[in-house]
Amino acid sequence: MTIQEHVSLQPYNTFGIDANARYFVEIRTEEELVALCKGDFLKDKNLLILGGGSNMLFTQDFDGIVIKNSIQGFDTKHAGETIYVTAGAGMVWHELVLKTLENGINGLENLSLIPGTVGAAPVQNIGAYGVELKDLFFELKAIEIDSGEVKTFLHEECAFDYRYSVFKGPLKGKYIISSVTLKLHTSIEVNTSYGAINSTLNEWNIANPTPKEVSDAVIHIRQSKLPDPAKVGNAGSFFKNPVITKKQYDLLKSEFETIPGYPQPNNRVKVPAAWLIDQNGWKGKTLGNIGVNPKQPLVLVNYGGGKGAELKELAYSILDSVKERFGIELEPEVNII
Ligand code: FAD
Ligand code: EPU
Repeated sequence: MTIQEHVSLQPYNTFGIDANARYFVEIRTEEELVALCKGDFLKDKNLLILGGGSNMLFTQDFDGIVIKNSIQGFDTKHAGETIYVTAGAGMVWHELVLKTLENGINGLENLSLIPGTVGAAPVQNIGAYGVELKDLFFELKAIEIDSGEVKTFLHEECAFDYRYSVFKGPLKGKYIISSVTLKLHTSIEVNTSYGAINSTLNEWNIANPTPKEVSDAVIHIRQSKLPDPAKVGNAGSFFKNPVITKKQYDLLKSEFETIPGYPQPNNRVKVPAAWLIDQNGWKGKTLGNIGVNPKQPLVLVNYGGGKGAELKELAYSILDSVKERFGIELEPEVNII
């Protein structure tokens, strides 16, 4: 474990923002992480835990220590049709998805091609195409930063919700996740409830898809509308989809007839932020080196050389315009540092 100084974070964030970390350390084993937390070096320093940097926007240099989690590992335990898969927090999420599918272990197919690491997946309860991490989560191990103690968190202790967990709330910055255990299965039953998956499989003339074919369909859909961070800097959806009361939704519907809405528990409705942003004419807008993705306006992009502060300003201009027209305050999904 080597602590480096004045390290550029540009290769470590998918927006491709050039910001520096005062200190930077890459952790490859749980033992290293425990030793780091038990030692004195972290005391009184700002900390930032980094996975793949695919949900981060650096608006300035980071005056503290960036801990890049690169802990690997893959282990399975069979219990009939159920398979418990434990993966190191630093493993690339999509590699885990492919590795499980290749080994006849199913369940992660709808979550294919989400950038980032295994350890960050529970932090915001990643979700896509009708499935969220919480549907497959069993438990995780994390190191308490203050004490270096290893703790196991069970499902009910994580407080999962839409793009939320306890690690984004009261425990933010207090624990570093070292491994995650998922409860997967050998059953070939698949979830194709999300419309776009069905239409893609229909186009491909596949009536009874295998989990691998669902994964291929999800990859195809994602590649058709989301920019590849290796080519164009971005962090996926910049904002969460707002969840409003049914009463507020009905009022909006009387003024904006075509506003989409998806019913949620407790008399609430989820409204696609992409629609709100699109209606305000932001789609495809370019401002120097940055802009709003022309295919999916919930995604802000860095065409190269853009600054984090410029992207933040663009995000807040979008937020203000949506608030003014629809009375809805968008909440960033991306971590603004
Ligand atoms: P980072 O960006 O490095 O970190 C994210 C947060 O997690 C930070 O607060 C960080 O401190 C914390 N963190 C990271 N690792 C740990 C750890 N080991 N212990 C404790 N805290 C940690 N997200 C979705 O949910 N669904 C999607 O469909 C989706 N599509 C995307 C598409 C694109 C093109 C991109 C670029 C992003 C997309 N995202 C999506 C967002 C992103 O992929 C997820 O948020 C992902 O989980 C981030 O992983 P990361 O390792 O890059 O985390
Ligand atoms: N829409 C428009 N104009 C557009 C595009 C979309 O009006 O140009 C409207 C349409 O009504 C469309 C709706 O927005 O039906 C939803 O669009 P889409 O299906 O692309 O999904 P999304 O709600 O924008 C969410 C997640 C994605 C996830 C997809 C698929 C959030 C914040 N985003 O996007 O997650 O991949 O669904 O499940 O929940 C991420 O979190 O980074 C992310 C990419």
